[in-house]
Amino acid sequence: MARLIYHDATGPARVDPQDKPIFICMCGLSQDLPRCDGSHKAARQNEQPGKLCIYDKARRSVIEVRDDSEATD
Ligand code: FES
Repeated sequence: MARLIYHDATGPARVDPQDKPIFICMCGLSQDLPRCDGSHKAARQNEQPGKLCIYDKARRSVIEVRDDSEATD
């Protein structure tokens, strides 16, 4: 089964349960889910407002870019 999930977060969610913060991936590109591994930073160079980027199964490379009909920007 394939799934196209609409993600528009551009950074992690910060959680402060202890002394040291934990960053939870909200962009869906981390290779270490559920933790943010910084992959969202590289995505900023490839992703443009109003565009929908479709990634490969490994969540490493953009394989298609479409106009984003759901964009509200
Ligand atoms: S928010 Fe997803 S890798 Fe950082």
